[in-house]
Amino acid sequence: MKFLREGGAVSRAAHEEGSRHHLVSLGMKLVTFLVPPPSPISLSLYTYIYILKVEIDIYIMVVLIVIIGVVMGVCMLSSAVLRWNEMKYRKKGLPPGTMGWPLFGETNDFLKQGPTFIKNQRSRYGNVFKSHILGCPTVVSMDPDLNRYILMNECKGIIPGYPQSMLEILGKSNIAAVHGPAHKNMRGALLSLVSPTIIRDQILPKIDEFMRSHLSNWTNQIIDIQQKTKEMALLSSLKQVSGIESSSLSKDFMPEFFKLVLGTLSLPINLPNTNYRRGLKARKKVVQMLADLINERRNSNETHQDMLNSLMNSGDNKYQLSDEEIIDQIITILYSGYETVSTTSMMAVKYLYDHPKVLEELRKEHLGIRKRKMAEDPLDWNDYKSMKFTRAVIFETSRLATIVNGVLRKTIKDMELNGFVIPKGWRIYVYTREINYDPSLYPDPYTFNPWRWLDRSLETQNYFFIFGGGTRQCPGKELGIAEISTFLHYFVTKYRWEEVGGDKLMKFPRVEAPNGLHIRVSDLYS
Ligand code: HEM
Repeated sequence: MKFLREGGAVSRAAHEEGSRHHLVSLGMKLVTFLVPPPSPISLSLYTYIYILKVEIDIYIMVVLIVIIGVVMGVCMLSSAVLRWNEMKYRKKGLPPGTMGWPLFGETNDFLKQGPTFIKNQRSRYGNVFKSHILGCPTVVSMDPDLNRYILMNECKGIIPGYPQSMLEILGKSNIAAVHGPAHKNMRGALLSLVSPTIIRDQILPKIDEFMRSHLSNWTNQIIDIQQKTKEMALLSSLKQVSGIESSSLSKDFMPEFFKLVLGTLSLPINLPNTNYRRGLKARKKVVQMLADLINERRNSNETHQDMLNSLMNSGDNKYQLSDEEIIDQIITILYSGYETVSTTSMMAVKYLYDHPKVLEELRKEHLGIRKRKMAEDPLDWNDYKSMKFTRAVIFETSRLATIVNGVLRKTIKDMELNGFVIPKGWRIYVYTREINYDPSLYPDPYTFNPWRWLDRSLETQNYFFIFGGGTRQCPGKELGIAEISTFLHYFVTKYRWEEVGGDKLMKFPRVEAPNGLHIRVSDLYS
């Protein structure tokens, strides 16, 4: 500051006393621009710049020290918080693993890195490890035998572990929300709606009629096959459940149902304009529409042959469901078959396009069926049962795309599993994805090879979890396969197609094409 107060004289003196040495020792590169020989004006400018530079250096140094201090502070605090969180969960007998941040756990890493996160944790901690994901302390099991044991032994301390926020949208009588005798009743009622005889006599003709109409007029159009398969899965189920077709009710129903689905997959933040709030509102509307339909049926003398009719008369067999249970049962059927059937159908179209030899074989199977029939004859049970290669294509698609990554369970008491003690209230993520790529089960696992499924033993092996397992194994398995098979039948016998290109596919947390999957469709024989 002395320089600033006494002006040029001091600065000149300072210069004469060997300021160059000073500058060099301070390592100031600027000096090389200023020497020699300085005039009086340039000298004071020189000094001014020198002072400025010194002050800037000090300033930068202070800022750097502050930044380093803050960074070190944050690092120390973070590691203290992380350690504290680990200590909180340090209980004897728990599997190894990390718990991440308080409250959020490792959800961010899990959602961002997906299967890579799970695989990395496995390489560090083994097939069974602990984590904290999606708001809950969780044990992730990638051990095929343990997974099988958990699926087969529901109720021995293990129940479904789907998030409460999801169950609030799906209803408290939803099958995933109940266990024990209530689950037995719900499941029994559901299985009687989709038995092989009912599929053969009542459902398959409806699916056939629906697919013919849904797949008409696609020639010479660019369509978003993701959108079309979503509409297909919902409208086809709606027709089976309540006979509703493309009526005004289905037009009102569809957007509300889509909001409901999105709500179950969103963060449970119940604030205006969040998907979760929209999902809750959509549930109210869906419930109202279904309640109106039930009342309409009661007040009319018409007879119907559909799932709603069976549910309304379930007392004829054993247990009469209440209206609330009937509505939740319908939502269960629509919801469970929606994403699974639509995504598998979309991915089958994708894989068939990428593998012309598979498409050729599939088309041969379906043209063979058509040859035996008149053009307007619907598909019947024998046709469906003869579609061996189609079934193989559907399994291979589900396997390679991994439509379902795993299922969630929860402990209702402290439990010993594989030598570990899982505390009461913890979630178990029965992660079945990696089994789909196990080379000992599926040689060359990343290749789309439906032929591997023609040997039926693959479908009955112990680790076939594409449709879950044990007491909650998918009751809609045959129905889903029948729907996708019928869709593929009409699709490959009527059309050829090519991808427009440029569409992205996401594989995790669910399989989807964020901007749609667009294909150019033309007549097979044009
Ligand atoms: C390709 C199609 C399908 C796939 C891949 C699939 C997959 C699955 C899986 C993995 C589970 C086990 C869930 C768990 O253990 O928590 C399941 C359960 C279930 N699925 Fe499916 N599913 C499909 C189609 C359908 C269809 C069309 C329906 C319609 C009826 C349906 C209805 C259900 C129901 C109600 C459950 C719960 C069963 C229970 O909790 O007892 N699924 N499904």
